[in-house]
Amino acid sequence: MIMSQTNFQTVRVNLAARSYDVEIGAENLSHLRATLNAFPNVQHVVILTDANVAPLYAENIAEHLAAQDLAVDRMIIKPGEESKSIASAEYLWENLLKIGTDRQSVILAIGGGVVGDLAGFIAATYARGIRFFQLPTTLLAQVDSSVGGKVGVNLSGGKNMVGAFYQPLGVLIDTKTLDTLDESQYLAGLGEVVKYGVSLDAELFELLENNIDRITQRDHILLTKIVARCCRIKANIVEKDEFEMLGLRAKLNYGHTFAHAYETLSGYGTLLHGLAVAIGLVDAARLARKLNRVDNSFVERQIAINEQLGLPIQYDNIRAEEILDLMTHDKKSVRGSLRFILPTKLGQCELVTEISPEVVKEALCFVSP
Ligand SMILES: NC(=O)c1ccc[n+]([C@@H]2O[C@H](COP(=O)([O-])OP(=O)(O)OC[C@H]3O[C@@H](n4cnc5c(N)ncnc54)[C@H](O)[C@@H]3O)[C@@H](O)[C@H]2O)c1
Ligand SMILES: [Zn+2]
Repeated sequence: MIMSQTNFQTVRVNLAARSYDVEIGAENLSHLRATLNAFPNVQHVVILTDANVAPLYAENIAEHLAAQDLAVDRMIIKPGEESKSIASAEYLWENLLKIGTDRQSVILAIGGGVVGDLAGFIAATYARGIRFFQLPTTLLAQVDSSVGGKVGVNLSGGKNMVGAFYQPLGVLIDTKTLDTLDESQYLAGLGEVVKYGVSLDAELFELLENNIDRITQRDHILLTKIVARCCRIKANIVEKDEFEMLGLRAKLNYGHTFAHAYETLSGYGTLLHGLAVAIGLVDAARLARKLNRVDNSFVERQIAINEQLGLPIQYDNIRAEEILDLMTHDKKSVRGSLRFILPTKLGQCELVTEISPEVVKEALCFVSP
């Protein structure tokens, strides 16, 4: 349930002893001290942020907390995915030791998904686990990575290959931080927002369709509603399948099999993940249409919302064969047939197995002659 008081919303993630609140609103960072007060024995906070977010938000938060009787340390990493590494973790572990981090300390992650995943990972592992708290500042981190407890780092051979399920103490989301996000990062977050709507929540999809201008203008009242709704959808699934044992969390990856192929084929870092997802949503819709699972209007609405929001609908420089090759060699392929999360109708999806690569090829938006 989402509790609403004026423009603030709270989403409770119910995970027995690991339960926590996600608080969402505009300019609510001043609540942070009060929020931390609710946890026993917090005497020291270690802020982990990146060099872009430090001057924008983290430094103010550090000063605010230090003025309220907390010992505050700062650790600043280089922005970007390369920082999500064992080398960074090792450097940060050593630093935590040097500054006297112990069980009275809390790591505060202030930044995007890179900072959040790395902070959660060092919190899960340092001294066999200390507490951490998330203040996500990208739209992607606010609607996705800060909720659900997946933390980790990359190996050179694979993303997120070392990590843990480790829930935060809580999450505080200030939608005002999105004002400084550049357009492409904002759009990438919207790719995931549209994913939630089309695959899991028809009402959210309609809310998006009916409020394109307010979304584009980053209207905070609307963003609070949208972010809270996305967190609620993710929490519902995480609550039922925290450790990814039942296959339910896979639904959060609607459109992602295509997206991962685009990300790989376009070359590391060229295409933002959320933009690849936006294209993957169109592909998934076309594939579902091809299999007669949805009608034409489903595909048309998907394309229309992408176009209205400024999200891509296709990636021109990659041939269908290349995508198929990659998919038939990855783990989702069983003896040459493919499996996808596909819609049954707007706001609902399920796992569909034994799809022939030929059908997928025909469904891809840019089938080469
Ligand atoms: N844990 C999960 O469940 C989960 C889910 C999805 C993605 N992820 C991970 O999240 C990471 C991607 O996260 P991301 O998209 O937030 O990227 P990111 O953390 O790299 O942030 C993107 C860029 O925006 C900058 N930035 C952050 N907040 C800003 C603000 N308010 N104003 C201006 N600039 C700002 C950052 O410095 C960075 O340059 C990936 O590593 C991915 O694997 C994790
Ligand atoms: Zn994603």
